[in-house]
Amino acid sequence: MLRGKHILLGVTGSIAAYKAAVLIRLLVKEGAEVRVVMTPLAKEFITPLTLATLSRHPILVDFFDPEDGRWNSHISLGEWADAYLIAPATANTLAKMAGGVADNLLLTTYLSARCPVFVSPAMDLDMYAHVATQENLGKLRRRNVSIIEPEEGELASGLVGKGRMAEPEKIVEALQRWFSGQKKRGLSGKRLMVTAGPTREAIDPVRYISNHSSGKMGYALAEELAARGAEVFLVTGPTQLSVKDGIHRIDVVSAQEMYERACEIFPETDGAIMCAAVADYTPAEVSDRKIKKDDGSWALELRPTHDIAAELGKNKGSRLLVGFALETDHEHSHAHAKLERKRFDFIVLNSLRDAGAGFGVDTNKITILERNGSETAYPLKSKRETAVDIVDKIENYLLSPDSRPSE
Ligand code: C5P
Repeated sequence: MLRGKHILLGVTGSIAAYKAAVLIRLLVKEGAEVRVVMTPLAKEFITPLTLATLSRHPILVDFFDPEDGRWNSHISLGEWADAYLIAPATANTLAKMAGGVADNLLLTTYLSARCPVFVSPAMDLDMYAHVATQENLGKLRRRNVSIIEPEEGELASGLVGKGRMAEPEKIVEALQRWFSGQKKRGLSGKRLMVTAGPTREAIDPVRYISNHSSGKMGYALAEELAARGAEVFLVTGPTQLSVKDGIHRIDVVSAQEMYERACEIFPETDGAIMCAAVADYTPAEVSDRKIKKDDGSWALELRPTHDIAAELGKNKGSRLLVGFALETDHEHSHAHAKLERKRFDFIVLNSLRDAGAGFGVDTNKITILERNGSETAYPLKSKRETAVDIVDKIENYLLSPDSRPSE
């Protein structure tokens, strides 16, 4: 998990600084590239020579090299790092970080780092328990700094309590956990809209035209996108389903309402997945009273609804547009025609002829058709697993634009 990762290690003036040597060895063993920045006081606890030898890079302490005046850029250090780990982190450094003090290279690097920051506090139990330290840690936590909790045990002062820096193995595990979670959060910063469920087209105050869509596929997609860090806007027709916190749910009833909301939201997103089973026709007139039966037959006049996907396709720009095709016959040629007409980047085809695919059921069997003509057939899977396959493809298209066939 740490192979090839750039870990910037900040070492501060604590007795626990000796553990930095072990930490560097473990990180290098895991395949990480390590560079070290020390506070001036840290040099009194462990020699730069030891840490330079283990990390295979010169140690940085000063803003510039006193020999030749070369500038040690905290900005390029921060840009280089995939993670900035300050271990051990003294109460003094934590306080300065919380207060935005910038009087050494370790601190200026913290202020300019854009990568995730981890601190591994090390201090005596009373210093750790002090309200000032706890408030500083609280501030840092709220700024998304990850605190690797110190352990209970014997301290350098001879006292026993909480404040010992976490063992290097624990620190490495914390980094590994973060990077493995990150791998699955490849869509953070992306905004995506999903349309889902059926629409209902009113005939009169009592009756409507609709279809069998349960919304399960669209909801599974919304949840998978959110799990990978995307901000998700779920525009949904009436369903029995609930969604996890964090997904923006926009409830609509008719095709017209879905059209209006989707058109509003789409320009603010990086793309949309059109999973809703939108009614193609709606009654030309809606009676405001319940229509009474009589003995004769009667004809209901229908007019076409907006094709939401096709409308969005017209002004999609560089946004991603993914469609669905549920077919009963001539599946591939129908799906290809929709891919073109609605300007989808790819279309997910499912056939009602396949057992286990379609409305209401918890499974699906899909084929993904792309603009470059490629077709990938997937075996029968749960809708949740199918969502993973579809979102893998979406992630590929969004994160490696080169993989996206042009129109
Ligand atoms: O033409 P057809 O309805 O089979 O196309 C299916 C695709 O188009 C789906 O992605 C569906 O969500 C979308 N669609 C839409 N608005 C419509 C009809 C279909 O967005 N009125």
